Amino acid sequence: MRMRFSDRMDAIPEYVVARMNRVIAEKRAAGIDVISLGIGDPDLPPDPRIRARLAEEVLRDDAARYPTNIGQPDLREAVAEHYARRFGVSLDPATEILPLLGAKEGLAHLALAVLDPGALSLVADPGYPVYTGGPLLAAADSYPLPVLAANDFQPDLAAVPADVAERARLLVCGYPNNPTGAVAAPDLFARLGAFGERHDLVLCHDHAYAELTFDDAVAPSALSDASYRSRGIEILSLSKAYSVPGWRIAFAVGNPEIISVLQRLKTQIDSGMFPALQRTAAWMLRQTDLDGPPLAIYRARRDLACRLLGEVGLPVTPPQGGMYLWVPIPAGETSTDFATRLLEDAAVVVTPGSAYGKAGEGYVRMALTVPEDRLREALERIGAALARS
Ligand SMILES: Cc1ncc(COP(=O)(O)O)c(C=O)c1O
Repeated sequence: MRMRFSDRMDAIPEYVVARMNRVIAEKRAAGIDVISLGIGDPDLPPDPRIRARLAEEVLRDDAARYPTNIGQPDLREAVAEHYARRFGVSLDPATEILPLLGAKEGLAHLALAVLDPGALSLVADPGYPVYTGGPLLAAADSYPLPVLAANDFQPDLAAVPADVAERARLLVCGYPNNPTGAVAAPDLFARLGAFGERHDLVLCHDHAYAELTFDDAVAPSALSDASYRSRGIEILSLSKAYSVPGWRIAFAVGNPEIISVLQRLKTQIDSGMFPALQRTAAWMLRQTDLDGPPLAIYRARRDLACRLLGEVGLPVTPPQGGMYLWVPIPAGETSTDFATRLLEDAAVVVTPGSAYGKAGEGYVRMALTVPEDRLREALERIGAALARS
C-alpha cells in the first residue's frame, strides 16, 4: 500500500536552493567545473575570534543542557544593547526579544502563528521564498506586494486592492532587499505602519542584510518608526552580518504580543538555541571590533561584476545593499530558460528571478559569493555563451 502524506506537501515546491544543490552536485560528479553564483552563502570564514569563543563555550559542562525558547537573559540583554547602540532603538529584554534558529525558521513560524487557514499574507514580490512558504504551511494564501524597479524596489501599497488589504492579516518585506539589493526609502516604515494600522495587519520586517550596505547607504531598523513598532516585529539575523549562516542565530524583536505568540508556538516545535551559541552570540553582539561582513570584498566583486556584465550586454545598476546582483535579462526568454542556458552552455549557476515570485520574471540573481578570479571566469563564460547563441 502506498503511504499517504498531507495535501500540504503537494503544495510545497522543491526549495530553490535544494534544487540548485542537486543540479550542481550532478554536474560536478560528471567532472564539470561548475561556478555557482546561485546560493547566498558567504564564502569567507568568520572572524577567528568568534570561532575561538564558540569553541570555548562548547567545552563548558552545561553547554549540552536543554536551552529554553525564550533564551538566556544575558543574550536578550545583549540584543537590547546592540539595538540601542546600532539602531538607536530601545527594547525591553523581557518582552520584546526572542531568539530564533535563523531568520528562516522565524519567518515560517510567524506565518503559522498569525494566519488561519484561508487567511492572506501580503508578501514582497520578488521576495525571499519563505515569505510565501510560511503561508503555504499554514494553509493560508499569499498576495504579491509589488516591489518593482519602477518604484525603486519599494512596496507599492497603493497597488493592493481594497478587498485584498481587508482580508490580509500579515505583511512581510525586507531591506536591504534580497534579491534586488535595494535599501529602504526613508519613509518606508512610516508608510508600512500607517497601512498596517488602516488594515489591522501584523507587520514583519526581515533585516537579514542589516550590515550589508555599500557606499553611503544606511539600513535603519523598522522599529525606529513608532507606528510600525506598534504592530510590527523585525527579524535580525547574524548569518550574513558575521558570515555564520551555518550557526543559525537570529532574533525576532519588537511588539510584545507578536513576540509572545511566536514564542508560545515555538515551545511546541523547538527547544531553543544551543546554549554555547547563545553565549557566543551575546559576546559577539557586545564586541565592537569584530570583523563583520567583508564589505570591501563584496563591493569590489560587485563593481567588477557590474562592469563585466555591461561588457557582455547585460547592464545592471550596482545595488546599494545585500550580496547579489539583480540582472535584467534580454526579452523573449523566461528567467528559467535563461538560467538553464547559462548552466548548460557556461556551467555557471544563477538563480532564475521567477524563484522569487512572478515579478522576478525577466531577471536572474547572481550571488557575489565567489572570489574575483572565479567571478571573472564566470562572466567570461557567460559572455562567450551569449555570443554563441
Ligand atoms: C531575505 C532573507 N531573509 C532571511 C534569510 C535567512 O536567514 P537565516 O540564515 O538567519 O535563516 C535569508 C538567507 O539567505 C535571506 O536572504
